[in-house]
Amino acid sequence: MKVICFKNHTELSVFAASAIALAIKNKPSLTLCMASGETPALTCDLLVKNLTEEQVDYSKITFLGLDEWVGLPPENEGSCQYFFRKKIFEPLQLKASQYFLFNALAEDLNAECLKMDALIAEKGGIDIMLVGIGMNGHIGFNEPGTSFTSISHVAALDEITKTVGQKYFTQQTALTRGITVGLGHLLNANKVLLLANGSKKAGVIKAAVEGPVTEIFPASIMQQHTNGFVLIDEEAGSLLDKSKLS
Ligand code: PGA
Repeated sequence: MKVICFKNHTELSVFAASAIALAIKNKPSLTLCMASGETPALTCDLLVKNLTEEQVDYSKITFLGLDEWVGLPPENEGSCQYFFRKKIFEPLQLKASQYFLFNALAEDLNAECLKMDALIAEKGGIDIMLVGIGMNGHIGFNEPGTSFTSISHVAALDEITKTVGQKYFTQQTALTRGITVGLGHLLNANKVLLLANGSKKAGVIKAAVEGPVTEIFPASIMQQHTNGFVLIDEEAGSLLDKSKLS
């Protein structure tokens, strides 16, 4: 794992978007698994800009959504599906055959997990995974205590996730379960970018990077990834031992 600190959120987003665009140029059939949320929003916008302006052929990529709130319809503006439609699929005009998102309304959520796992296997694994970090150290809906070998699964949400998650919704929304790609998939991904910005993430970044590697704190899994990059801004890195930065 490498930790790279940027001046601000814009600079780290420029870096992340360029890294993904370059990876698509080098491997047009790239499988990309991405988180939604406040942190990666600018990276998504810049990725669309880069791919369009540089006329990169992205017609063969496969896009996987990292997670979804169980029970939310896709038209709910706080859903991950809504985020990706507006930020990636519509601007890039991706074909429906190029992406897979968990259907959070499915009666059989386990079948959704199996579909995701089968697709990841069919593609030969995830090439790039871009994730954020929650205020409890979660990655996707891999909540504290999730096994590092987990595959796609449905998770009961942690209290912190339910509370912090309200920021995505215009009105109070009942959040109980999430469906998510697992930490085993993250460990097996060729490359992982974990993004964090702002002083509110300083504590969780310190725990992820310098704390013990433990399933109690899911983001500490990054320390085990040989091609993992923690991309932070100065505020998120403010509590770190500066000698650990690349
Ligand atoms: P955020 O979400 O990017 O909106 O802060 C991070 C997360 O909970 O994974």
